[in-house]
Amino acid sequence: MANLLLRPSWYLPESAITPRAEYQRRREFLRQLGLSGAGLLAATLTGCGKETTPAAALVPATAGAATAAAAAAATGLYPAKRNPEFDPKVALSNSDEVYTYNNFYEFSTTKSRVHKLVGKFTTDPWSIHIGGLCENEMTLSAAELIGLFPLEERVYRFRCVEAWAMTVPWTGFPLAKLIEKARPKSEAKFVKFTTAMRPDQMPGIATLGEYPWPYTEGLRMDEARHPLTLLATGLYGEPLKKQNGAPLRIVVPWKYGYKSIKSLVRIDFVAQQPATLWETLNPVEYPFESNVDPGKPHPRWSQASERVLGNGESVRTLKYNGYADAVAKLY
Ligand code: MTE
Repeated sequence: MANLLLRPSWYLPESAITPRAEYQRRREFLRQLGLSGAGLLAATLTGCGKETTPAAALVPATAGAATAAAAAAATGLYPAKRNPEFDPKVALSNSDEVYTYNNFYEFSTTKSRVHKLVGKFTTDPWSIHIGGLCENEMTLSAAELIGLFPLEERVYRFRCVEAWAMTVPWTGFPLAKLIEKARPKSEAKFVKFTTAMRPDQMPGIATLGEYPWPYTEGLRMDEARHPLTLLATGLYGEPLKKQNGAPLRIVVPWKYGYKSIKSLVRIDFVAQQPATLWETLNPVEYPFESNVDPGKPHPRWSQASERVLGNGESVRTLKYNGYADAVAKLY
């Protein structure tokens, strides 16, 4: 793992960082408070950069932010110490954008509405089952799972298949640690992930009634064990907000964003490649592997560039989202 991300191709000098400075001011503030501790044909991810976030939409998701941050800090878990190996000194995406521009189809296909529709979704208490082909099957509360391993913060690039991108500080631990604890059997070749399915709390499920809910995703065992694959519990130094996949999600930074499944209730070790929601709906547009690849256009748009969330700038997309040195050997 040493030097895994040392000066990647997207490294920027510290002088280029405005939003990050803003974020650090917030951490400083906390420290000063003494708290440092529609049918298959419609099966398409929408957006592709056409939607903009109205300014008014920024208010609800960020209101009470200081209170939430203070409560998070009081747990002693947040903000977690940033791992210097994953601190590339690049500009972070503005957190307000990241909280209000979301893909979470269980709630809505309109990105700016997701955060307004998560109110009824209860993420505490929360239970997650780790099972399938493993020696150490477990059912744990989210709090128990979060307490299993030390949390760390990592700044990762994140690239949606719809050609928008962000750079954010996730909190979590390598999924590999949990896999090791579960002791998968030798027949286990893939890991299957499942999101909660609660139609009474998730209004988007009824709207997309013919989708193969619950949302499922999967990784090959070597991808799931890769040191970059994170079980994320937080974002911007606080526990995950509901719209970003509270209380537990997966983050796989070299793959398109739909592989980074939210609000996990099951992790299963399986022998065969699992069916995933998006691949079941449209295997040509959303195949299982889905590594970020600027040279391989989506059937309906180019993947050569991406729109940076927040400033709208168009930048070149990087193979494996900039993580080629770490992951190209897997393929
Ligand atoms: N997980 C679930 N359960 N449901 C979803 O609709 N959308 C995916 C992924 N995980 C999705 C999901 C897609 S397409 C993207 S780009 C990312 O979540 C968006 O994560 P964010 O809203 O935190 O930016």
